[in-house]
Amino acid sequence: MTSPTFSRVAVIGAGTMGRGIAHVAASSGAAVHLIDADAAAAAAAKDQIDGTLTRAVAKGRVTEDDRTSILEKIVTSDDRIGAVSAADVVVEAVPEIMDLKRSLFAEFAANAPAHALLGTNTSSLSITSIAADTGAADRIIGLHFFNPVHIMQLLEIVRGEETSDATVAAAQAFASQLDKEAILVRDVPGFATSRLGVLLGLEAMRMVEEKVASAADIDTAMELGYRHPMGPLKLTDLVGLDVRLAIADHLHAELKSPRFEPPQILRDMVASGKLGKKSGAGFYSYDA
Ligand SMILES: NC(=O)c1ccc[n+]([C@@H]2O[C@H](COP(=O)([O-])OP(=O)(O)OC[C@H]3O[C@@H](n4cnc5c(N)ncnc54)[C@H](O)[C@@H]3O)[C@@H](O)[C@H]2O)c1
Repeated sequence: MTSPTFSRVAVIGAGTMGRGIAHVAASSGAAVHLIDADAAAAAAAKDQIDGTLTRAVAKGRVTEDDRTSILEKIVTSDDRIGAVSAADVVVEAVPEIMDLKRSLFAEFAANAPAHALLGTNTSSLSITSIAADTGAADRIIGLHFFNPVHIMQLLEIVRGEETSDATVAAAQAFASQLDKEAILVRDVPGFATSRLGVLLGLEAMRMVEEKVASAADIDTAMELGYRHPMGPLKLTDLVGLDVRLAIADHLHAELKSPRFEPPQILRDMVASGKLGKKSGAGFYSYDA
């Protein structure tokens, strides 16, 4: 394998998303430092990547040699500064808390090499706000991956107000190294993906409220009529009604449009504990 352009990748936060990002970065040939505040969590994340790869080998999608070489490229620890100071790209995937992300980006700006691309996987926070006061806002950009990262093709690149053209170009080159299809979006609430996806879900809920059709028929309309892989209500059940409500409240407050006002049915279902698949009931019922 030829050496990739971004040959040293630091992934900060080894949860659901961080481990997936580490997996695709190592698959692209990069040496990856997968870092978590809890070193044991980082090691457990690598075990999970191993599990995913082992299943892929059993299905004939990955060779045993590739599995071994991908795992060899991933080193786990809690040494954030050590990893960041030797990185061509830093991808942050810690919880969605503005103060936490701001303090980490100040640390990255102070410790990463001057050429390093600094990306955040935030799904809803403003890139411009995360980058403010770091002194390196030109190098900071949104790199919004989708779960599961090794399967989902999209990388939503979000350009902050101060992000430079060179940083956008580097992010696009990183996407192509990872074999992702990139879209470029301005730093607005909900970016492109959440803004459209949430709106469709809210309208589908309003249609259930108005008894336009059953939840199943509304989903079938989009699956068969528009080739969506999954209808908007099934997807809402999967994501979690509470998660969707929080995002809709956030977008409603930020964009100040009635289009994003959560419908009463969503508030009522969340209040009664119908959170979707994880709670056993949402727009559909699920076996425990
Ligand atoms: N889960 C999704 O489907 C999804 C999809 C797209 C984007 N995102 C975004 O990705 C980010 C991470 O989400 P997640 O679901 O992977 O979260 P998660 O809770 O699964 O993982 C976060 C990890 O970060 C670690 N962490 C916390 N503080 C840290 C610190 N100071 N230094 C190093 N590690 C630290 C935690 O120990 C945890 O292991 C969030 O911004 C989220 O909005 C999530």
